[in-house]
Amino acid sequence: MEAKGKATLTYGDGKTLEMPVYGGTIGPDVVDIRALYGKTGLFTYDPGFLSTASCGSKITYIDGDAGVLMYRGYPIEQLAQHCDFLEVCYLLLKGELPNAQQKKEFDSMVTKHTMVHEQLARFYSGFRRDAHPMAVMVGVVGALAAFYHDSLDISNPEHREVSAFRLIAKLPTIAAMAYKYNVGQPFMYPKNGLDYTSNFMRMMFGVPAEEYEVNPVLVRALDRILILHADHEQNASTSTVRLAGSSGANPFACISSGIACLWGPAHGGANEAALNMLYDIQKQGGVAKIGEFVAKVKDKNSGVKLMGFGHRVYKNYDPRAKLMQETTREVLDALGLHDDPLFKLAMALEKVALEDEYFVSRKLYPNVDFYSGIVQRAMGIPVSMFTCIFSLARTVGWIAQWNEMISDPEQKIGRPRQLYNGATRRDVVPLARRG
Ligand code: ACO
Repeated sequence: MEAKGKATLTYGDGKTLEMPVYGGTIGPDVVDIRALYGKTGLFTYDPGFLSTASCGSKITYIDGDAGVLMYRGYPIEQLAQHCDFLEVCYLLLKGELPNAQQKKEFDSMVTKHTMVHEQLARFYSGFRRDAHPMAVMVGVVGALAAFYHDSLDISNPEHREVSAFRLIAKLPTIAAMAYKYNVGQPFMYPKNGLDYTSNFMRMMFGVPAEEYEVNPVLVRALDRILILHADHEQNASTSTVRLAGSSGANPFACISSGIACLWGPAHGGANEAALNMLYDIQKQGGVAKIGEFVAKVKDKNSGVKLMGFGHRVYKNYDPRAKLMQETTREVLDALGLHDDPLFKLAMALEKVALEDEYFVSRKLYPNVDFYSGIVQRAMGIPVSMFTCIFSLARTVGWIAQWNEMISDPEQKIGRPRQLYNGATRRDVVPLARRG
């Protein structure tokens, strides 16, 4: 990397350190602080890493102020309109969109790996029926490593590739099995004549006693949900996967750690929270109660937030929210739910919030989760499965990022430092003499 400039730090008694500044293809420049500790004995302090570029990446770009999201340079709007999820997977993993032949071969490779080892199916009976499906996912995905000793050499690109196929192909099977186990229905084996998303829907909603009819509008909607959630640069779960992988851990263990991080309500769990908020307002009187609810949100002492609004990075409309709103409308129309009260309530709430000075001045806009709960609920997906679906979509992003990290010559084991502010050195007083 060639420096495009330098930044000078003045510290101590007027000492200075010059550090190189690098530019990416777009986005903010970075100051290279790698020599900082060695030369000055100083660390940087950046809780949550909000000002820290932890790696270089060619995969996903977000401009939060402009409301832009691109995978490998392609705007999310165009990908959502022209591609299916597996094309997007190919793009994220390989850097280019596939041609027709490449797509055929890629789809066929994924399809070949959709089944899970029969012994893995027995793991499920070790869980309580009412276990949260994300708890099951964390365990079962991590356990995949026990079945694929043939592909755990992370320095071998072929091993990494087959692991990627296995993870992308098996996540829908594993997630659908978690749901089936929860509701007490038999597991549905994948049916490889179906496309990726139809196959997942059949494994979720089909039963062996009858043929499952695929609804193309719902399949397109779910496929779009998968595309919109496929990657989001160095967010908490992706950084978790990279950090876990930086020690040389195998990809199944790394993806399992990503799933664990995604489970948190501030990350993947927010769509569930947004839907519950809409239910609550509906119960209290619906649209007529919006004013009262917004007043509560604005009152700092209430502790109430408008769930599905605001984002760490987007300080403009989340481009995924626009697409999700469009998909919600399509699904509700296809299901004859034009008057769905929750959707009407969400639209009315969005309108009020977007015109309110509190939200305008803080640049709070709907995020992808504001509508994704409504659409998934309309499709018959239970709330507890929302984050599982997010995790199966994000798996490809995690793998692409993990792969990029393994291939990066500048990669090092992750080891953040700290500002220690605990006790200074002291001596242990024997128990009998402690007051
Ligand atoms: N409702 C009401 N006020 C809000 C909201 C909200 N949803 N989000 C932020 N604010 C307020 C804050 O109270 C703060 O006000 P102040 O300046 O008067 O103190 C101001 O807006 C700035 O908020 P921050 O917390 O600094 O914003 P930050 O970028 O750190 O937080 C976050 C982003 C965590 C997503 C936040 O907006 C939030 O909690 N939103 C609701 C949860 C949600 O929808 N999460 C999904 C994220 S998308 C995803 O994970 C796929």
